[in-house]
Amino acid sequence: MAYLLVLSQDNLALARAEAEALLGPGKLFANYLTVGSGETRTVKRLAYAHRAYKILFDCPVSDLKKSVLAHPWDSVIKKTFCVRFIGDVKGLSEAQAASWIWDKLPSPAVDLTNPSSRIDFLFHEKHAYLLLHTWENPKRYVSRVPHKRPGFSPVTSHPKFAKALVNLSGAQRGSVLVDPFCGVGGIVIEAGLSGVKAQGYDVDQQMIEKANRNLDYFSVRGVRVELGNAFDLDKEFEYLATDLPFGRSSRLSGANDIVTFYIKALKKIRNLFSKRAVVVMHRIPELDRVIAEAKIKPALEIEHVMHHSLTKHIIVLEK
Ligand SMILES: C[S@@+](CC[C@H](N)C(=O)[O-])C[C@H]1O[C@@H](n2cnc3c(N)ncnc32)[C@H](O)[C@@H]1O
Repeated sequence: MAYLLVLSQDNLALARAEAEALLGPGKLFANYLTVGSGETRTVKRLAYAHRAYKILFDCPVSDLKKSVLAHPWDSVIKKTFCVRFIGDVKGLSEAQAASWIWDKLPSPAVDLTNPSSRIDFLFHEKHAYLLLHTWENPKRYVSRVPHKRPGFSPVTSHPKFAKALVNLSGAQRGSVLVDPFCGVGGIVIEAGLSGVKAQGYDVDQQMIEKANRNLDYFSVRGVRVELGNAFDLDKEFEYLATDLPFGRSSRLSGANDIVTFYIKALKKIRNLFSKRAVVVMHRIPELDRVIAEAKIKPALEIEHVMHHSLTKHIIVLEK
């Protein structure tokens, strides 16, 4: 099924990479991404997408009326429908376009507030995309922002960002992901709620207790967290997503400076996954040296501005 996704413009590079990791390569124009395949269930996992449409067809605007009249609308529209325009075409109204569809239905009914089928016409550079509205992001992660979790930490990942990291790893439902620096569980919570099995480790017992409280509070299934030093792990997981410690918490690992810690952590991470890993670091001036000395070749690198004085650097590693 081909979809058109309306991506969040908070971080378009992250939004695109997240969607493509789950749904395959797409074509981007403005903040719209068209992808050739995928299941609605997978589309619904996206964090940085506002909504999704099934693409009914696309055509030059000059052929619009002919193409609309040729479409089998009775197999698309269930009961009631409405038409919305995104962008416009000179001299064409939503009501006129709706009347073309109306004429093709055996018992047409319009409902402008709560239609069973919403048809959007997206106009972009003399081209029209005819879209069936399929999904609106309910943004449920808002209920899991750090101060709404019983186990709090000031350095925990925001749930929208954490969800995108899990998706960016490409982990499918039922596959296994590790966060070797799991803190209070920001990433593993989002993994579990998306149907990905997850294992978290943290060297700080208090973090593990808080992570367990958070997992219980949000009734997350298929996730385990335990006390452990990431550098002592000798298991391999299919996927990995982690937000590396910085400052005081990185000193728990015996490194005196952040550059040494990042190199050591990336070298360890290379051996912890078999498919794809997503690693978040602070954007520090020495990042190129860190990546060279850790002997890794990121498949993708994305910047993420947290606030005016903090930008994170996301790298994706593949085997
Ligand atoms: C940036 S925080 C992780 C935040 C996490 N994503 C969350 O949502 O809470 C980094 C965590 O790494 C942990 N840590 C530091 N050194 C570690 C090590 N060697 N092994 C495991 N965890 C470690 C710290 O205790 C801290 O909780």
